Order: sequence, then C-alpha cells, then structure tokens
Amino acid sequence: MTATKTIPMDLASVLDSVAGEATTASGLMTAIVNLLHEKLPNYNWVGFYMLEKDAGEDMLALGPFRGAATPHTRIPLNQGICGAAASRGETVVVDDVAADPRYLACSLETKSEIVVPIFVRGKVVGELDIDSHVPAAFGAEDRQLCEHAAALMGTWLEKHAK
Ligand code: SME
Repeated sequence: MTATKTIPMDLASVLDSVAGEATTASGLMTAIVNLLHEKLPNYNWVGFYMLEKDAGEDMLALGPFRGAATPHTRIPLNQGICGAAASRGETVVVDDVAADPRYLACSLETKSEIVVPIFVRGKVVGELDIDSHVPAAFGAEDRQLCEHAAALMGTWLEKHAK
C-alpha cells in the first residue's frame, strides 16, 4: 500500500471545483471549512468570520466553522489576531500564539494560527481563520492554500452577491 500525503496545494483544484458548483455563500464556506478540516490533520479549527455592522461598528461575526465551539463569535477589529488581519488587510501567521499578546484564546490546545482576509472589490469583507494544535503549523504552502481559498471566496462573492 502506498501512503499518500495530502499536500496543501493539491487541494486548490478541489476547492476550485467546489466553488464552481456552489449556489450560496454559506454553502461554499461550509464546503471549504469541511475540506480543509478533513484533509489537513494540523488544521484543527477552520472557520470564517464575516464583517457586519453592529450599532455602526465593524464587527467580525463567526460564520461556518469546523472544530471546537469558540467563545469568540463576534470580534471587534481592534481585538485578536482576527481583528489585526481584517484591519490591516493582510495575512497574519502566528507560530506561537502564547507569545502573541493580540491572541484571543479559543482553546488551550491551540499553538499556532493563520488568518487570511477576504476581499471583494478591494475591500475586506471577512476572513478565513485556521488554528492548529501544532506549533508553527502554517508554512509557505499552507499560506498559499489558505490565500487561495480566501481569494476564491472573494471572487465568488463578487460574482454572486449584489
Ligand atoms: N484566536 C483568534 C480568535 C478566534 S479563534 O481562534 C476561533 C484571535 O486571536 O483573533
């Protein structure tokens, strides 16, 4: 028997076909979190946060996710690694969450995290957040795959949302 390892970028084309068949934004988000969570053993929590207005303030609201329930269902832009990625409009990779004062803990098991913003027509509309129980789990290939998934979501929203 040959052991096959799922290399992160192998999933990019699978994600492309899933996006081609998606009929709703939440359906596509659910398919993306399921795929990443099931195929990549170090991706222990995978979820989307989407920007919403909350009494006039921008707020990141938890969308579809896989993994343990999190207390952080609404995150202001000035809080957490999630807030940092959305407000800067840049991917944030944290190899050791315990050493990052911005980190909002979801699970004591989490050791590293990647957060990738989603853009629609140049504006941040949300983000893809992934936590790992393994320190420094997110290397260059993971970053490429996560940025691909976030870009795919942004393109889908540009095409389908009003
Ligand atoms: N750790 C994130 C909060 C969300 S949980 O990871 C699901 C942060 O620091 O923003």
